[in-house]
Amino acid sequence: MQHTEYKFRPMKRRHVDAVLKIIDAHDDDDFEYARDSYEYSGRSGQYVLMYEDAVIGVTGYRRASDTDNTFWLSWTYLDAEYHGQKLGKYMLDKLLDILKQKKARKLFVSTSDYADYERGNIYLDAIKLYKSMGFNEEIVHPDYYNPGESQLIYGLVLQPPQPAKKRPNEKRGIVLTELFEIDETEDVYAVDWRFSGRKCFTTDEMKRLLDDARERNAHSVFISFPSDVRKVFEPLEASGFQPCGILENYFEDGLHEYQFRCTLR
Ligand SMILES: CC(C)(COP(=O)(O)OP(=O)(O)OC[C@H]1O[C@@H](n2cnc3c(N)ncnc32)[C@H](O)[C@@H]1OP(=O)(O)O)[C@@H](O)C(=O)NCCC(=O)NCCS
Repeated sequence: MQHTEYKFRPMKRRHVDAVLKIIDAHDDDDFEYARDSYEYSGRSGQYVLMYEDAVIGVTGYRRASDTDNTFWLSWTYLDAEYHGQKLGKYMLDKLLDILKQKKARKLFVSTSDYADYERGNIYLDAIKLYKSMGFNEEIVHPDYYNPGESQLIYGLVLQPPQPAKKRPNEKRGIVLTELFEIDETEDVYAVDWRFSGRKCFTTDEMKRLLDDARERNAHSVFISFPSDVRKVFEPLEASGFQPCGILENYFEDGLHEYQFRCTLR
């Protein structure tokens, strides 16, 4: 299908209200997070689908920080009146053309298995679309957004992986910096860290952060590292973290993201 009467355009400020209305009609929580993302992270990399002068769809990408050309898919929605005409695929094909021109290596999308009584799994059509376009499921985190609602992460390879380069992080030390609640979740936290010096954080330092998380009533705590930072395995295991998923070639070809989870209750 050609869909030549539809126009795919960069999102302008004047489009934002119409975009948010489309998202709100599908899920009011998504509306709030999308509004915040356009306000705080801006409209760069965001696109709308127009029919005549009306906005009927939205999609986009955001660059993953500290990676070699890895991207995350942003809010991807069509006005319900236009569902079932392959316009979702049309938007994503246009977006992938742009990403390929930017030499993107990989595109990830995070979604959920949230189901309501009336509609069942509200993201099922989206998941079907991603799979039909070649996205593969890489991670499932059970009870992530809420008890009973998993996070699903799909990855799409945009360029064949090249041989891995040298391991840049092997000898660097790691300092834990912050415990924070993850956006869009209920009582699920993550630990932030940075490279510093030569030493790795200790088991006791991690346990103190987990005590802090318990005091805040955290359900689970996540942390993730590049796959070549092996010195973290020991203190993570000793403080109760388990490996819970891998995003393949996330940082660069041959350098994956290892994710770990400590379930507190
Ligand atoms: C994801 C989305 C953009 C897909 O767009 P789309 O152009 O409708 O996709 P398709 O035309 O390929 O249809 C997908 C499925 O929708 C179903 N569908 C939903 N409404 C339909 C309608 N009015 N007419 C026909 N099919 C419909 C069909 O079962 C179809 O499945 P099939 O390919 O096996 O026939 C769109 O469904 C959407 O906006 N969903 C809500 C937002 C969302 O979940 N975003 C992702 C957040 S992670």
